[in-house]
Parts: sequence; structure tokens; C-alpha cells
Amino acid sequence: MNNRIQIFDTTLRDGEQVPGCGLNKNEKITIAKALEELGVDVIEAGFPISSPGDFESVKALAEIIKDATVCGLSRAVKKDIECAAEALKKAKRPRIHTGLGTSDQHVFTKLKITREEVIERAKACVSYAKKFVEDVEFYAEDAGRTDNEFLARVIETAVQAGATVVNIPDTTGYCLPEEYGQKIKYLADNVKGIEKATISTHCHNDLGLSTANSIAGIQNGARQVECTINGVGERAGNTSLEEVVMILRKHKWLKFETGINSKMLYPVSQLVSDTMNMPVQPNKAIVGANAFAHSSGIHQDGVIKNRDNYEIIDPAEVGVNKSSIILTARSGRAALNFRLGQIGVHLGKDELEETYGRFLKMADEINVVNDPELRELVEGYTHVNA
Ligand code: KIV
Ligand code: ZN
Repeated sequence: MNNRIQIFDTTLRDGEQVPGCGLNKNEKITIAKALEELGVDVIEAGFPISSPGDFESVKALAEIIKDATVCGLSRAVKKDIECAAEALKKAKRPRIHTGLGTSDQHVFTKLKITREEVIERAKACVSYAKKFVEDVEFYAEDAGRTDNEFLARVIETAVQAGATVVNIPDTTGYCLPEEYGQKIKYLADNVKGIEKATISTHCHNDLGLSTANSIAGIQNGARQVECTINGVGERAGNTSLEEVVMILRKHKWLKFETGINSKMLYPVSQLVSDTMNMPVQPNKAIVGANAFAHSSGIHQDGVIKNRDNYEIIDPAEVGVNKSSIILTARSGRAALNFRLGQIGVHLGKDELEETYGRFLKMADEINVVNDPELRELVEGYTHVNA
């Protein structure tokens, strides 16, 4: 089995389902171009039947994007599939993503059909999509809560009908990593013909486990991960692209690789955040404002001596200019001295000691001491070469 993980970005489809974060055609084009440069393998451009605007967006991306596969979502419904096929007509690498719910919850209380009908509809939707494009991805919605034996039957049907990728969504973010990993392994071991298709993860973050579940999926045989920039998506969001990519880079012993240019992770994160008007939480892994900021004395002293003491990622590797030493009332003398040095101020031992006392008082009052306040603090020292 090969170790190249396909990155399927769904920022423009599942990510865009965040209330208030809808994107117009031009915004989608801007983000899609950045995603292509980032090196994603598949861009899920939208859900063409959902609105005329989304149809036009998918159509535009199909014409513009050349390296990545462009994918359009559909339900297991003929008119959805026809609409997706129409929107993708000019794509160099088109993919239709179609499917339906498979958990008892979805089958009996949402779709209100029988399990046998699920099997029939899985076969029908993949076969119909195959009339338009070669690359058809089948999703088993709520696979996370679907019993494995039935799920295997549905997936086997989809593969027999010609699905090139089979998506196993943990739609409600319910699974534990071990459980999700076992589900993927069960399918890899029990679905006849599974070697003809790529198994894909698609994990939601309702319990904060989406990234862990995606990694467990990879370790058990999945070779495509569906994710979004900044982890944006319905409710608590989707698996975060930057987290998956950096986990695989940092744990080289796992021997998995992606085609992502990690130096673009931060710029693309900023672009998505600005365009969607959705701030990134400061403590977000990899791309949050505090991901490379150190504010406690012990950590600052360690980082100043050797960055590796407290950072497992070189900020430059993800496109962040530098790690930062933030001056707060928890900072020590080493941090104060370091930051003074950065603004060209070099104090003797006694001067530093005296300044440190005044610094602490100031930090207690204003919380974070920035360069202008630092300059104010050392104003009295005439020999300062600021
Ligand atoms: O979460 C989910 O199940 C989905 C499918 C439509 C792929 O987004
Ligand atoms: Zn989803």
C-alpha cells in the first residue's frame, strides 16, 4: 500500500457551510487558487444543486483549476448528479461526490427507507455518476455511527458500481480514535475489491477528536483525508488541514507524506480567515496567533537558550516569520533583556535589575508590554543605543 496521503480540501463546501461564512464566486476563486498553490490534491468546490450561485462557483473553478481535482457534491439523487456533472463539465480532473446516510439514525428517521433500499440507492447513484465522469467518490453519511457489517455491504456495493474513492464520514464527530481506526481497518479487511478504491476519512470535531480520528484512519488504511483550512465547518468544524499535514511531517517514522507546501499554511490560513470573516482562535494549533508565542518566564528562558526546548515546529516551516517572546508579568529577566536587545537596548546587570522591577509593575497594569512601552521604560538610561 502506498504512503502518499491525498489531501481533499473541503473548505469551499463543508467549510463554507458555517453560518455567516458563505463565499461568493470571486472569493471561492481566490481561495481555490491558493489551495492549488498550497498543493492540495482535491478541491471540493461546492454543492452545485444547492443554489445557482454555488453552481456558477463550481463551474468557474472547474474552468480555472488545472492541477487539482475539482469535486462537486451531490445527494444520491439523479438531478443532483446531473447538476454536478454539468457544473464540472469543463474540469480537467472532475470528480462527483455522491452518497447517502447509512446509520440506523439516518436510514430510519431521516431517509425513512429500508437498509436494502440504501444498498440499491448506493449502487444507483454511483452507476449514474459514472455515466458522466470516471472519478466518482461515494460517501456513507454518518458512517461513524453505522454498524460495520452493514457499512461494509454498502461500501462493497459502491466499489462494485465503480466508486474510485469511498468516504467514511464521522458526520457527527462521535467516534473515538481507536473505534474510527478499527472501522477503517474492518472495511480494508472485509470489503471485497476495496483495493480498487481509495478509502477516505471525513471527520467532524464535535468532541474535539477530528484530527486524532483522521490520523487513526490513515494508520489503518485510509489514503485520503478530507479537511478544511483552520478546521472550519459545520458546528464544531471539520478536521484541520494544517494539523494533519504537520502531524505527518513531525512524525516522520509514520512514513506518510502529502504534497503540501507547508510554508504556505499560515498565509492560506490568514486568507481563509479574512475572506470568510472568521477569526482564528489565538491558541489554534499551527496557525493561531499564540502558536509560536511564549509568555511565561521559564518557557521564555528555555526558548532564548534553544528554541527546540519548547517548540517542535520551526515557525518558518509553516510560513510564520518568527516565534515571539511576549512580555507579561509572568516574564523573567532573560525575556526582558532579550526583547530590549531586539530594539537595540543593552543594559548592564544593575540597570536591568532596576528596569525589571518597573517592568513588572507596568505589566501588572497593562498586561502585555510592547515595544513603545519598553522604550518608555528605558528612557532614563542616557547611554542606551536605541
Ligand atoms: O459530514 C458529512 O457526512 C458530509 C458528507 C456530505 C460527505 O459532509
Ligand atoms: Zn462533513
